[in-house]
Amino acid sequence: MIDAAGIQALFATHFGHAPGMVVRAPGRVNLIGEHTDYNDGFVLPAAIDRATFIAAAPRSDRRVRVFAADLNESDEFAIDHIESSGIRPWSNYIRGMVRALLAAGHVINGADLVVSSSVPRGAGLSSSAALEVATGYVFQLLYGLNILGEELALMAQATENHFVGVNCGIMDQFIVTLGQAHHALLIDCRDLSYQAVSVPENAAIVICDSHIERSLAASAYNQRRAECEHAVEILSASLPGIKALRDVTSQQLQQHSQALPSIVLQRARHVISENERVLSGVAALRAGNVAEFGRLMNASHASMRDDYNVSIPEMDALVASAQRVSGCYGSRLTGAGFGGCTVSLVENGAVEHFRHEVAAAYLAATGRSASIYVTHAADGVGRIRPE
Ligand code: GLA
Repeated sequence: MIDAAGIQALFATHFGHAPGMVVRAPGRVNLIGEHTDYNDGFVLPAAIDRATFIAAAPRSDRRVRVFAADLNESDEFAIDHIESSGIRPWSNYIRGMVRALLAAGHVINGADLVVSSSVPRGAGLSSSAALEVATGYVFQLLYGLNILGEELALMAQATENHFVGVNCGIMDQFIVTLGQAHHALLIDCRDLSYQAVSVPENAAIVICDSHIERSLAASAYNQRRAECEHAVEILSASLPGIKALRDVTSQQLQQHSQALPSIVLQRARHVISENERVLSGVAALRAGNVAEFGRLMNASHASMRDDYNVSIPEMDALVASAQRVSGCYGSRLTGAGFGGCTVSLVENGAVEHFRHEVAAAYLAATGRSASIYVTHAADGVGRIRPE
């Protein structure tokens, strides 16, 4: 797996001179709080120990040259004429970030960049947010820009929304920027305030990658967002002043359930109950009650499956095989859905048994192999060279 020394050597071979620095931006896993961020709600993600690395040196000719080492592809563009690339889609995360920096009035020049990542692409672990945030941070350091973490995260989200064309919320870019080692962050996606919550020491965060590409994800994601907005529109007739599903309680939803078409009611029920689960989950972790947190993870999965309809049978099989293992506190689909990864909280002593059991059960149920790895809550974006 790529590290700082490896990417420095790649840079020197490719560009014929040494990089000035290496930046690292992690992937993320969300412990609980799914599809709540774009409803002004609560999430509890952690940055992980898989990351995107960029080695970089400044250029004075207003050009950016990039080598994507994992793909063995290169790209080059002038910073004053940035358009989206149809043939190098990976480059759009970089192009979009540079454009966002310029649009925000920052004074920058060109750069030579080498990129390599250990975050699996398209697996729902935020490889794209990692690339956006790493790019922004590289330019911040190369040109001495004064950008707060929150601002960098918002710029990366804007890049994703307006340049790449994915209508995501703020969770991924925020945790990739501001993650803290050994902690998850409880983020209030309305005002972007956050609190660090210790990850339990007696449990491991285990990621199971289903290796199912999230093909339906983009269209279904936009549809879910629209259904949530529709719910707010209808409910605001009887609950004036609400701005998002975040403002509605389960009790209020029940009172006004007749007003909503059944699919819209289901979507709202997921979001509202999920917000409640995030807050109860944080209270449980703070009280040292990992079992209760695990129970809430399981309930979150059921709600994503039955009310939000973003799971698929293979993901349900992966979650069910995890939940059956003794020593597994809880397990759920993590990220947008329709494939990707699950996250499980597993008692430290049970991890090896868990790996074996889940891999075998998933293979038996689906004919597919899962990749299973233990991860640790890591720091958000940072410079790793020079130290
Ligand atoms: C994707 C989006 C996030 C969030 C999750 C679902 O990861 O990028 O903003 O909405 O899906 O919780």
